[in-house]
Amino acid sequence: MPPRDHWSSRLGFVLAAAGSAIGLGNVWKFPYITGVYGGGAFVLVYLAAVALVGIPILVAEILIGRRARKDPVGAMRAVGGRAWAGVGWLGVGASFVILSYYSVVAGWTLAYAARAASGGFTGLDAAAISTLFDAFLADPTRQLFWHACFMALVIAIVVGGVAKGLERWNKVLMPALVAILLVLFVVALRSPGAAAGFRFMFHADFHKLTPKAWLEALGHSFFTLSLGMGAMLTYGSYLSTKTDLLRSAVVIAVFDALMALVAGLVIFPICFTFGLQPAAGPGLIFKTLPVAFAQMHGGSLFALLFFLLLAFAALTSAISLLEVAVAYFVDERGWPRPRATLGMGGVIFLLGIPSALSFSRLAHVHLYPGMTLFDSLDTLATNYLLPIGGLGIALVAGWRLARPVALEEFRDPRLFPYWHLAIRYLAPVAVVLILLFKMGVVG
Ligand code: PHE
Repeated sequence: MPPRDHWSSRLGFVLAAAGSAIGLGNVWKFPYITGVYGGGAFVLVYLAAVALVGIPILVAEILIGRRARKDPVGAMRAVGGRAWAGVGWLGVGASFVILSYYSVVAGWTLAYAARAASGGFTGLDAAAISTLFDAFLADPTRQLFWHACFMALVIAIVVGGVAKGLERWNKVLMPALVAILLVLFVVALRSPGAAAGFRFMFHADFHKLTPKAWLEALGHSFFTLSLGMGAMLTYGSYLSTKTDLLRSAVVIAVFDALMALVAGLVIFPICFTFGLQPAAGPGLIFKTLPVAFAQMHGGSLFALLFFLLLAFAALTSAISLLEVAVAYFVDERGWPRPRATLGMGGVIFLLGIPSALSFSRLAHVHLYPGMTLFDSLDTLATNYLLPIGGLGIALVAGWRLARPVALEEFRDPRLFPYWHLAIRYLAPVAVVLILLFKMGVVG
């Protein structure tokens, strides 16, 4: 057996894991759900969910991966016992499902970056921009083209391996992403809507905190930290035992939350400056922000930066999704990495075709009533696959892994009891609540 590939440094791991966490969830989903659920109070609950549930599960995933040094299926079997391999299977399955449609949205960000680069939004009004987006969604050729471009990029990075592929690219893309976000943040701060944007984000109106908002915040803390499907577990399996696990997890989670907050503080001031609706929903960034860019001084440049930011964020998350599938075929089936990467990347491209066409040719195909295939897959994955996977991971780390063995992985033993309490009780209860809520039993 060749030696297992691993991160070349702690920084490499932290950047890659943060790259996985920081994605469309931060820049696209977080601002729009914050908009829908009324701002400040929702943000508070989301931060609490990250701290109390997200971080403990993040630690559990990295810990299980690092102990087993295997893909999610092998790791759950090794640490939890045979019966728990199913949780790993669920994770590998979820990676196929999520990446297949994630790549479609990521393709949109590439397409919009290309359009911005050619000044394609200048002079358009809100109606024209809305029509543009709808026409783009309904065009099968362009949907497939950008989906293919994005998957080709993901494959090209993952085929290089952990240190020479994932780590190297995260070291370039993550600083670029932070730099772009900061430039846009300065622009937003200087805009007339800045004060209103900040107020919207930080003014906590607890009347708006419905039970649905609570649980939505909890669910989002999962998606945004890439939890519940073995992405962080796989990244942990390439991590040196010398790295302080808890500290790294906290750094990753804080980085992720900060980027979500700053993304909101870019988007809301722009909305208020141009009189756009912060509660516009999923179309917020594709349908409303280009309206602002079209009217803004230097708008084409900012539009280009913004959609590049999204594309980079999506790319560093997508490579962690493909890596889960690749790790499975390399570790469990003994495939060489190039074969696993090209093969599974190709399969995921094919699986994504129905999602890419679900706005045109397959618009009549529904899994859930009234939802496109694309939305159905997102619902299936984030509402069921991730929370169920997260529950399995919490149970294995909290109840199947012997306490002294888990304790060994902690640099500072004083913090261990808090984690153990959270992973045994708090996280499972929270996840079961999410599931019951999603199934309509509560809320
Ligand atoms: N965390 C990513 C985001 O916020 C999504 C993701 C989920 C990535 C699960 C990997 C695994 O966009």
